[in-house]
Amino acid sequence: MPGLRSSEWYAGSDRNGYIHRAWMRRGLPEHAFDGRPHIAIANTASDLTPCNAHLNEVAESVKQGVYEAGGIPLNLPVVSLGETLVRPTAMLWRNMAAMAIEEMLRANPIDGVVLLGGCDKTIPALLMGAASVDLPAVVVPGGPMLTGTFRGQPLGCGTDVWRLSEEVRAGTLSQDQFIRSESSMIRSRGHCNTMGTASTMGLVAEALGMVLPGLAGTPAPDSRLLERSHETGRLAVEMVAQGRTPSSLLERGSFLNAIVALAAIGGSTNAVVHLLAIAGRLGVPLTQDDFDATGSGVPLLVDLQPAGRFLMEDLHRAGGLLAVLQQVEDLLDPTAITVTGRPLVSYLAGAEIWDREVIRVRTEPLQPNAGIAVLYGNLAPDGAVIKPAAASEHLLQHRGRAVVFDSIEDMHARIDDPDLEVDADSVLVLRGCGPKGYPGMPEVANMPLPKKLLEQGVRDMVRICDGRMSGTAYGTVVLHVSPEAAAGGPLARVETGDVVVLDVPNRTLSVDVTAAELDARPADPATVQAFAAPARGWERLYVDHVTQAHSGADLDFLQGASGTSVSRESH
Ligand code: FES
Repeated sequence: MPGLRSSEWYAGSDRNGYIHRAWMRRGLPEHAFDGRPHIAIANTASDLTPCNAHLNEVAESVKQGVYEAGGIPLNLPVVSLGETLVRPTAMLWRNMAAMAIEEMLRANPIDGVVLLGGCDKTIPALLMGAASVDLPAVVVPGGPMLTGTFRGQPLGCGTDVWRLSEEVRAGTLSQDQFIRSESSMIRSRGHCNTMGTASTMGLVAEALGMVLPGLAGTPAPDSRLLERSHETGRLAVEMVAQGRTPSSLLERGSFLNAIVALAAIGGSTNAVVHLLAIAGRLGVPLTQDDFDATGSGVPLLVDLQPAGRFLMEDLHRAGGLLAVLQQVEDLLDPTAITVTGRPLVSYLAGAEIWDREVIRVRTEPLQPNAGIAVLYGNLAPDGAVIKPAAASEHLLQHRGRAVVFDSIEDMHARIDDPDLEVDADSVLVLRGCGPKGYPGMPEVANMPLPKKLLEQGVRDMVRICDGRMSGTAYGTVVLHVSPEAAAGGPLARVETGDVVVLDVPNRTLSVDVTAAELDARPADPATVQAFAAPARGWERLYVDHVTQAHSGADLDFLQGASGTSVSRESH
């Protein structure tokens, strides 16, 4: 192929060309350098990211496809993030992973890349890095695990951990039974099988146009995953020939399509920060308000945990994402194209629903208006989000006295205190959990309910936080409050006893305190103490440069289009 980027390394007959070729000729034949596209397989497989551990097998199928189409596949292990293991929170490292991926794609002699991800932050990080480099790129989502069962009932990975642990706290499940369920939950390879962040981001990546249509959501052990991975390898070679880069695919309409999909599937709130960050890398205009404006009128069509009944294996069996999108085709941008060069909507004609309990038809939605609501008010001048589909309807308009916690540690120390002044109408406020404050914006917004209220049968309360919520969690949780307390947001000046007013239908979140009084209050000294900036390393860089949730919580200097150019050659 003419004008290949890899030829800048390999084509010359001078000393540099010699060195670049010679060091790669450990198994690669001479004709590997005759102008064939070199395709990196950016692989997040890791034993410490168990949701992605099977991606080495997926990579082999991609490789075969690349070879078959006349390309040279090259393994490129990249930073991986195991959601359940990485401390203090995988979100702290998303931008680091994205930056490392970006730099390694740019630094190496490659013409295109296949991105292998799965566990929550891996697909966002891969897309952010690839968007910045802007080489032809296509995602293979590793797929969800199969449905586990416990005592004859399906067990949703993630969501049922929350449910079962609350049952233990409430005294309705023994500790022994709880531990016995552990070995039943993870039945196979693959990522969490609820509509959590991993499932959401795989499906949303396809709606964006970055996945071979019909692939996302294929369970990890399903042989069709390998078949479609092989096809993706072939496609990557074609994409290089066509110059089909992320910036040539991803326009505002692509992101709006992703938002429609996010609403129709009842996807994770984490997709908001991830999509904003990806759009920010490309310079595509997208704001938090677009999620409300575009998503809120979209019907909820997928009945999956955490808000619903089924799991990802059921969604795939029922027809998958394309069957869902076929129901809302009129809401999609017909001009938005995919990695294949064809519009997303062109794949919807033959998409059928095979189980109308799992995927509802448009005329019988689970909820007429799904999506994510964006709230504003004197508690969230730059916005906060709530997922009404995961909330309790009776709490969507609510007034209650604030019970304020300055940090996760403070919350854990006091939440079960029998003397804590709290009742079912109280509003639990947790601050110090934003991008800068924690740092890393952990998934703690769905804080546990006070034990004494659980014992009274209370199962949901209004909770407000500047952090995030696990995509597998549920409840009336207002999250991503911006600006966060550590950045001087008014959340830092709310006091226990203040009356907080949540009005989701009218999109407001406020505290019944005058602006003058709120401004006059000093931030709580304990809160300030908790916000002491890290002294060194990635955490220091992160805290100094991370943007607020409403901007995607990316690093400020990584926003905006970048490109493939490498400024200098060393020898
Ligand atoms: Fe990896 Fe849930 S822990 S997707």
